[in-house]
Amino acid sequence: MIQTSAAPSISQSKPPAILSLIGDTPLVEVTQFDTGPCQLFLKLENQNPTGSIKDRIALSMIEAAERDGSLQPGGTVIEATAGNTGLGLALVAGAKGYRVLLVIPDKMSQEKISHVKALGAEVRLTRSDVTRGHPEYYQDMAMRLAEEIPGGFYANQFGNAANPLAHERTTGPEIWEQMRHDVDAVVVGVGSGGTLTGLGRFFNRVKPRRGIEMILADPAGSILYEYVKTGKMVESGSWAVEGIGEDFVPEIADMSLVTDAFAIDDEESFATARELLKREGIFGGSSTGTLVAGALRYCRQQTKLKRVVSLVPDTGNKYLSKMYNDFWMAEQGYIHRPPHGDLSDLISHRYEAGEVITVGADDTLLTAFKRMRDSDVSQLPVVDKNGRALGIIDESDLLVKVHRDPTHFNDAVKTAMTNKLETLPPKAKIKDLLDVFDRGRVAIVMEDDKFLGLITRTDLLSYLRLHMPKQ
Ligand SMILES: Cc1ncc(COP(=O)(O)O)c(C=O)c1O
Repeated sequence: MIQTSAAPSISQSKPPAILSLIGDTPLVEVTQFDTGPCQLFLKLENQNPTGSIKDRIALSMIEAAERDGSLQPGGTVIEATAGNTGLGLALVAGAKGYRVLLVIPDKMSQEKISHVKALGAEVRLTRSDVTRGHPEYYQDMAMRLAEEIPGGFYANQFGNAANPLAHERTTGPEIWEQMRHDVDAVVVGVGSGGTLTGLGRFFNRVKPRRGIEMILADPAGSILYEYVKTGKMVESGSWAVEGIGEDFVPEIADMSLVTDAFAIDDEESFATARELLKREGIFGGSSTGTLVAGALRYCRQQTKLKRVVSLVPDTGNKYLSKMYNDFWMAEQGYIHRPPHGDLSDLISHRYEAGEVITVGADDTLLTAFKRMRDSDVSQLPVVDKNGRALGIIDESDLLVKVHRDPTHFNDAVKTAMTNKLETLPPKAKIKDLLDVFDRGRVAIVMEDDKFLGLITRTDLLSYLRLHMPKQ
């Protein structure tokens, strides 16, 4: 262990130095994709301290509020978000000694909630199923809390001028310098509109009269693409890409800056982000896929060399359990396995491909329990060395053994497993599956002696949802 003679000095007045690492992100060229006659560059906003472009606006909004007095020492910063802005504010405002209170809709992922809490923010969960005007709508609730709490400051990224200003003063000039003053087009997404408005204003100033095209890449389902193309407000659909796309035009989004737009669906966004990681080693979030897909379409439509810039707005770390998880992708229908036309199409984790978590008959019950907890399942197939399914063990089997005497966790799995297996051949019918579920079991799919995998109620529900006729 390294001994130091004095305790490290902790500055009470100066915030931690990490705040100086916000912005000044690198720019890298895309070299492994077909970019037509163009050169495409990406600004790596995923390298900000909390992993997103929103650190910039968090710093800008807090400093502006400090300057104009709306945020005073001892004050509370309030925002309606579960996403990147919440993380940015939790870091910046927390580091400066303010209390941070985030109002979060209850559909948001546990990982994001854990992350903001770990940064020291307080969280108020509210309903996701209500819209603007309802007292429990997250933005209305945040605004109300800011009025009620003495010293409360509502950051309000959708209406705060310090949001676009952050991009006009930092992101834009950085790109301009990194591109050596030679830029033809910028491809952006719109969440609050801060990036679009800030970059658009900056580039109009340095290269006036639309010298630089501003291209919108919008998730299919968002209203913004149609608004740019036709000026009409259409009804919004739904999309799974996070952070961009809207069902309204945000107050600070100056859509007149946009010169052209592309609508990109979720499947193309996810596939592009995954390809970007494989081919270029760039680890972006789902909106990175939308932006890069839009940028590639733009580039391939050009007839002469253009220097194009887009962004990697946040890190792929936030999407490991979704877009970067093959099982989630398959379950949601974003990647397609060749169909067999039988029950094996319902098996989400295939044994042959090494995707099934199993346990051996001579392993201990403790091993079985730990594997269930680690992989968040409530039963495990018991399989021998040759891949034959010998039985199944579930949480009830474990409880029966250990509830009186927990030392039985040391007993072998074979002493607790069920060996009367509910096996079905792949050619069995959905009705046969329902019968198995009615008996409180999961189905084990066997082709003769070969174990193919399990089918649970969730697998059947996911399959039926995917095959639901489109409205
Ligand atoms: C995850 C994410 N958040 C936010 C933004 C941009 O948002 P805003 O319009 O709020 O500047 C982007 C832009 O691409 C994004 O990908």
